[in-house]
Amino acid sequence: MSHILLIVGGGIAAYKACELIRLLRKAGHSVRCVLTEGGSHFVTPMTLAALSENQVFTTLWDLKDEAEMGHIQLSREADLVVVAPATADLMARMANGHADDLATTLLLATDTPVLVAPAMNVRMWLHPATQRNVAQLRADGVEVMAPDEGAMACGEFGPGRLPEPPAILAAIEAKLTPAHRPLAGRHVLVTAGPTHEPIDPVRYIANRSSGRQGFAVAGALAALGARVTLVAGPVTLPTPPGVTRVNVETARDMAQAVTDALPADAAVMVAAVADWRVEAAE
Ligand SMILES: Cc1cc2nc3c(=O)[nH]c(=O)nc-3n(C[C@H](O)[C@H](O)[C@H](O)COP(=O)(O)O)c2cc1C
Repeated sequence: MSHILLIVGGGIAAYKACELIRLLRKAGHSVRCVLTEGGSHFVTPMTLAALSENQVFTTLWDLKDEAEMGHIQLSREADLVVVAPATADLMARMANGHADDLATTLLLATDTPVLVAPAMNVRMWLHPATQRNVAQLRADGVEVMAPDEGAMACGEFGPGRLPEPPAILAAIEAKLTPAHRPLAGRHVLVTAGPTHEPIDPVRYIANRSSGRQGFAVAGALAALGARVTLVAGPVTLPTPPGVTRVNVETARDMAQAVTDALPADAAVMVAAVADWRVEAAE
């Protein structure tokens, strides 16, 4: 699991930050949000807090926040700082080293890698000032994603749309240092839980496997960066973040699901597969 500090700027695409938080959480990352003054006109701190399940920071001038989690600590605690959406104004202030709000102050104070996903009107994006700022940010070591091209909220067409949240997630995962995700690029197959072998539509042969061990193994592997397929017998456990779950009932279903999930780099087979099945279930 990595810690992402997400700065949400004041653009119409701020609503897409909500989807990005959901994807990051699903992929097993923790998210802490900073909402700019502009951003708060588009999404509320409450929405970001509910989705991230974390406190949202909105101002530099909060005595309580500064005492408990100062802006320097906020930026240094993260594995990656992501600015999405990054407005033209926010990028201009970043490129020129301003520190006039919480977002720019912690961006100036951080030595953590920074990924920027811009979103703005096509003319704003193509303006020489913005292009200068983007070039400066890139020269300073900031990764600035290319915006998407297409129809915009303002009715114009061209480059400037926020890259879609799954693309931002992919850029984030690529940027996280391998030290945090030593299994990145690996596919691991995990089986968990019991199987149920029907006798008739009501009765079945089963065992008392809880599935907990396999689910814990799958979650830990996903947190280390692996792509995990979890083939689960009939249990009601929640799917660990970032894990693809395939539900099965019988041993034959499980064998088929395992075969379908191949190839895999490794497999952890902790399911309690039933030893018996009736010759012909009614
Ligand atoms: C309705 C509306 C939509 C806006 N959308 C954008 C946008 O998509 N991109 C952008 O760079 N600025 C946009 N702006 C301008 C920014 O909100 C403004 O520059 C603000 O100061 C940015 O502050 P922040 O980047 O600190 O959040 C918009 C303004 C309004 C009123």
